[in-house]
Amino acid sequence: MASDQEIPEGTVQNILEQESLKWVFVGGKGGVGKTTCSSILSILLSRVRSSVLIISTDPAHNLSDAFQQRFTKTPTLVNGFSNLFAMEVDPNVENDDLPNMEGMDSFLSELANAIPGIDEAMSFAEMLKLVQTMDYSVIVFDTAPTGHTLRLLQFPSTLEKGLGKMMSLKNKFGGLINQMTRMFGVDEEFGEDAILGKLEGMKDVIEQVNRQFKDPDMTTFVCVCIPEFLSLYETERLVQELSKFEIDTHNIIINQVLFDEEAVESKLLKARMRMQQKYLDQFYMLYDDFNITKLPLLPEEVCGVEALKAFSSKFITPYQPSIIKGTLEELDQRVSTLRLQLKEAESELETLKKGKRKM
Ligand SMILES: Nc1ncnc2c1ncn2[C@@H]1O[C@H](COP(=O)(O)OP(=O)(O)O)[C@@H](O)[C@H]1O
Ligand SMILES: [Mg+2]
Repeated sequence: MASDQEIPEGTVQNILEQESLKWVFVGGKGGVGKTTCSSILSILLSRVRSSVLIISTDPAHNLSDAFQQRFTKTPTLVNGFSNLFAMEVDPNVENDDLPNMEGMDSFLSELANAIPGIDEAMSFAEMLKLVQTMDYSVIVFDTAPTGHTLRLLQFPSTLEKGLGKMMSLKNKFGGLINQMTRMFGVDEEFGEDAILGKLEGMKDVIEQVNRQFKDPDMTTFVCVCIPEFLSLYETERLVQELSKFEIDTHNIIINQVLFDEEAVESKLLKARMRMQQKYLDQFYMLYDDFNITKLPLLPEEVCGVEALKAFSSKFITPYQPSIIKGTLEELDQRVSTLRLQLKEAESELETLKKGKRKM
């Protein structure tokens, strides 16, 4: 008997019930189902919250694919909903905002190089500032694969460092930089004071958001993974990084699980199931204080609102095997599956024989 069947199965119900939640991050390795899970979470939340916004920060945007609707960098109402909005933002800033002046250009790029990630952090902060003013009841993030997301979550300290560096530069060189920018004929808007002002203006939002991200009442991170070695390893790394940044996480979604209820006869599938079971056991052992939701691997993609809605039931009702192993019912089903396979093989053989006779 598989050990996981003795453990009560988890769901994402706890997230739906936590009314104080404002920020829900969904993250994990590429291709494990982050977009699918964040989309479904946002749909489920829209049933219990006044308004929900889902934001994709993954440069490989696929909210549009999941919902079968085009989204942009401004919130758009999702078709078929009255309180669910979606937007896709590019975490990599376009440098169109910066002036093209010679000299000034190199000064700014040197500054940007001195503080790695400052431009990205500023655009993320600006996006959060905008979202903050819009008054959504909860905001779900479909994040980019692990490394990138963790960098974004570090943005408050990056910005604070940047601010410190600017200050020390200002003190060191006094008006020199401003003189320089004037000399090169650079717009006031792009001068050192303007950049400094921008950073300082951002400081309040940064501090506020930083506080909210570290508040488990307001923020949680949902880890999505699959029952395989690399994904288990990545998840552990993610969970540890999150605790280092003091970001709450207590939900794991294990996607693409092969459930042993189809009376499977395929050797390959049986072997894959055994492998999955090994990692499932490890997940349950390592994360016994987490809500673990298992999702079945479906025969088809999860595309469009109807498919997302249909799959959403698996997020709130724990998995129940429809057939108990070793029972008469299971044996019956196995026999009928084998009969079906035999029939198929026989008819294949017939077709082959016929073909040969013709040749
Ligand atoms: N349980 C599942 N069964 C079958 N297909 C799935 C399942 N979960 C996700 N998919 C499909 O797998 C692909 C990748 O999922 P996606 O959510 O886009 O992953 P990510 O955002 O992590 O890259 C999509 O085409 C999606 O429809
Ligand atoms: Mg995705």
